[in-house]
Amino acid sequence: MSTVSIPELVADHSTLIVAGSGGVGKTTVAAALGYLAADRPDGRVLVLTVDPARRLATALGIGDVGGVPRRVDTGLRGELWVEMLDARQEWDRLISTHAPDEGVRDAVLSNHLYRHITRRFVQSHEYVAMERLHRLHTTEEWDLIVLDTPPSRNALDLLDAPARMCDFFGGRLLRWLTAPATSRFALQAFRPITLVADRILGGPFVSDLTEFFVLIKTMEKGFVERATEVEKSLSQESTNFVIVTTAERGPAGEVMRLVQELARRRCRAGVVVVNRTTPVPADDGNEASVLSVDAASRLVPDAAPAVVTAVVEMMGETLDQMRHSARAESEVLRSLPGDVPAVRVPMMDSDIADLDGIKGLARALGASVPAVT
Ligand SMILES: Nc1ncnc2c1ncn2[C@@H]1O[C@H](COP(=O)(O)OP(=O)(O)OP(=O)(O)O)[C@@H](O)[C@H]1O
Ligand SMILES: [Mg+2]
Repeated sequence: MSTVSIPELVADHSTLIVAGSGGVGKTTVAAALGYLAADRPDGRVLVLTVDPARRLATALGIGDVGGVPRRVDTGLRGELWVEMLDARQEWDRLISTHAPDEGVRDAVLSNHLYRHITRRFVQSHEYVAMERLHRLHTTEEWDLIVLDTPPSRNALDLLDAPARMCDFFGGRLLRWLTAPATSRFALQAFRPITLVADRILGGPFVSDLTEFFVLIKTMEKGFVERATEVEKSLSQESTNFVIVTTAERGPAGEVMRLVQELARRRCRAGVVVVNRTTPVPADDGNEASVLSVDAASRLVPDAAPAVVTAVVEMMGETLDQMRHSARAESEVLRSLPGDVPAVRVPMMDSDIADLDGIKGLARALGASVPAVT
């Protein structure tokens, strides 16, 4: 298996995109990579995070403020900035950019359906996260931008987002919906469904639907050009993907698909970070308990012998369980693609919810322990 140095990876790229299955630690790893990268003189690093729970943003002291970079007080040699993606603001900005005139812009921005989609659907974050990344790059203010990707049903959704945007405009659905006679007929036929939708969405769904698609069609050219540009930027040499997984079958299985899809699109997969691994070796040839009862008794001479024995037994059992998990993990890790270096990061003692936790994870990442030895 090839090896990698994470400090070199962060130093050699201007964009790192952190992808992977839901809940594996993408946001946390993105913050830790940013922390590592900011530890160099004059480095300006931005972590663009998409953490709907906002836990990390709050822990890093950027609170509820989204949509603008905020500096994190780290005491490092360089600067670490974090921005919480404001998907609503990004969509509004896209509409303002591509609308042919103010009338269309205002009509879309106040359209009920548009507002519902951009404010409520997490999937709508995928495209705008990349759009925002692309725009931040053009400012040339940052040495490195680390993009944390949104929770999605599968990690490929993110890669597909620009193409889906182009397909939407080029596809039959939009043509069909914006052809007045057809859409009137279709909407009539679907009236019972749209009436229910009206009630669920709490607004005039039918008229908003027609208006929304007719208006959005006027922006086709701008949207398609931009999405094509965004897609191209993913395969630039200065962009690399960091794939995060845990050593469980589900997320680890996704890694192979993601690596193959990245290769198919000529994107670079720099490293697989296997997060939250069991912090003991799978097998060190010593299955006995950590400490003998005699040795433990010498360490705590005042403790009752029965208590010492019980504690030593408990520690032994815990260690055995951990070794058992580590063995199962090793099996999963061997199934990872051999052509992308993989490093493992242990499960930390507690949830990572503040700068100290990020620092600990950054240290573990910096040490780059190969996942399979
Ligand atoms: N190495 C670790 N040790 C202990 N806890 C960790 C570690 N890495 C991540 N966590 C914890 O795991 C949880 C999930 O992490 P995180 O929010 O970063 O995942 P995510 O992949 O971004 O999730 P989502 O797909 O929902 O965005 C968090 O509570 C985080 O603190
Ligand atoms: Mg996240």
